[in-house]
Amino acid sequence: MIILGIETSCDETSAALVRDGRELISEVTATQMQIHAAFGGVVPEVASRHHVEDITRVVDETFREAGCTWHDVDAIAVTCGPGLLGSLLVGVSAAKGYALATGKPLIGVHHIAGHVAAATLNSQIRPPFLCLVVSGGHTELLTVDEQFCFTKLGGTRDDAAGEAYDKVARLIGLAYPGGPKVDELAHEGNKEAYAFPRGLLDEEGYDFSFSGLKSAVNNALTKQRNRREEIDAKDVCASFQAAVIDVLEEKTKRALAHTGYQRLVVAGGVAANRGLRSRFTALASATGVEVVFPPLRWCTDNAAMIASAGYYRFQQGKESDLSLNAYAQLSL
Ligand code: KG4
Ligand code: ZN
Repeated sequence: MIILGIETSCDETSAALVRDGRELISEVTATQMQIHAAFGGVVPEVASRHHVEDITRVVDETFREAGCTWHDVDAIAVTCGPGLLGSLLVGVSAAKGYALATGKPLIGVHHIAGHVAAATLNSQIRPPFLCLVVSGGHTELLTVDEQFCFTKLGGTRDDAAGEAYDKVARLIGLAYPGGPKVDELAHEGNKEAYAFPRGLLDEEGYDFSFSGLKSAVNNALTKQRNRREEIDAKDVCASFQAAVIDVLEEKTKRALAHTGYQRLVVAGGVAANRGLRSRFTALASATGVEVVFPPLRWCTDNAAMIASAGYYRFQQGKESDLSLNAYAQLSL
């Protein structure tokens, strides 16, 4: 079964053709990263306009690259939320148009389900597993059962992990998106230089909070600037990154112990983080739990993961109709 996936929830216009939820046939992504970098973050109205300009070309190129036609496609999967409403609407409207014109089934996909499904692309990994989703908009611990159904154990109460990375990057004057740059600098810094807080670590449960950490970084930098002290960005990044990873690791360890899962998937844009990968790889060696990261290209937003999640949804008989809408907020 071949599914066309479409993803436009933020600043990437992406389309992909995926066979049986796992095998990538082709994928084309138009990124707007450089455009938004000039503004220091994603500007929603600008993002939607670029999606409108790019969507049909991106879909056409995906077919061309695969050597496929609409006759080869069994269904169309599209991200319907959560995300930027104007951006989502472009993808959803395009998918509905294609479904109407071709008579192919339409499948609305939750963006987080896509990030989770990314772990199964070009891989033999199968649920059940525990999943830590860490992206620009989400920090969530989920259990994923054999049918690819989710149960949320906890999530962020304020900023997502990636959002905290981007905000801290901005505080030290790094360009958007700052996550990868903070990751890079962190490797050359001293993680003991600043004693930043580990949010909600003393609290039971699996919720996260990163806004206190971001404020602590801001306060430390302001104090140093007022005293005209030199700031070593590498030390700030290393100390900040250690605080984020400590919390992610500890809460995940608790969830593994509580649920008894022996397999862990770490997905989403922040799963590209080198420090996080090495910490969770060490966790795997220490505990014997199998830890799986999607390949780097499928950690950040892409349409292959949406086609994959769409396949699992379609297998469950969860088709959408042409009344499908886009939702800025959407529960899993
Ligand atoms: O999953 P994603 O592409 O978009 C959302 O669904 O939010 O994640 C983007 C986020 C951004 O906040 C970006 O800074 C962060 O992932 N990110 C990283 C790294 N690469 C991307 N954060 C830390 N370290 C990285 N290497
Ligand atoms: Zn995402």
